Amino acid sequence: VDIILLGPPGAGKGTQAGRLVADRGMVQLSTGDMLRAAVKAGTEVGLKAKAVMDAGELVSDEIVSAIIGERLDQLGKDVGLIFDGYPRTAAQAEALDALLAARGRKLDYVIELAVDEDALVDRIVGRYTCAVCGEGYHERYKPPKVEGTCDVCGNHEFKRRPDDNAETVRTRMAEYRAKTAPILPIYDARGLVRRVDGMADIGHVTQAIEAILDGK
Ligand code: AP5
Ligand code: ZN
Repeated sequence: VDIILLGPPGAGKGTQAGRLVADRGMVQLSTGDMLRAAVKAGTEVGLKAKAVMDAGELVSDEIVSAIIGERLDQLGKDVGLIFDGYPRTAAQAEALDALLAARGRKLDYVIELAVDEDALVDRIVGRYTCAVCGEGYHERYKPPKVEGTCDVCGNHEFKRRPDDNAETVRTRMAEYRAKTAPILPIYDARGLVRRVDGMADIGHVTQAIEAILDGK
């Protein structure tokens, strides 16, 4: 099963993708993660993307669709895909159709994480990750079990994303409303959209998504 997780910044796309990877062996394709890796590695793409990402704006369609295409070529046909943060524009949605068709695949569902935008700033500004293994945490919604210690790897160093400040989050939300939300009706017309309440507890959101994947 190949799915898109669609929702504004902080809706829980990365959180839910991580759980589906762990529970079902699906593969997460997060263009945000891929771009951050490129920035860290100092590649040509990373150099171009850094300032755009720090401003909360969208990186060009050509760049992100190219990195998705490269990643798809490394994956086997049997594995289920979770697109997280891609596509984000109508042009990317079209590019994805072509990339999948060329590899004999097609989308099964577009899962919309429906959320209250006012709550999202708080989710994003409180978020941080383990500097070693990348496990995600939140000051209030998901603190480590032992304060200051990663649940997964036991490390004590954490980091925050440079674009997770209140001002940049507002730009990211505006980009979502202007460029990404308009692709939902396109997928809806194809009967692919399933709406999930993204304001529920993390575990309940996962259950709702898994019920869709199981065809319930
Ligand atoms: P990207 O990395 O995709 O960021 P984003 O879309 O802004 O999404 P986030 O990662 O902020 O949120 P999320 O929905 O994954 O939420 P999370 O699960 O972490 O993109 C970053 C930048 O890269 C873009 O601005 C752009 O510049 C560029 N870019 C990336 N892709 C691109 C593309 N395709 N085209 C062009 N440019 C692109 O959850 C947030 C927090 O809330 C966490 O702390 C979590 O623990 C908590 N939480 C999650 N679910 C719940 C819940 N149900 N209840 C309570 N807390 C919860
Ligand atoms: Zn860790």
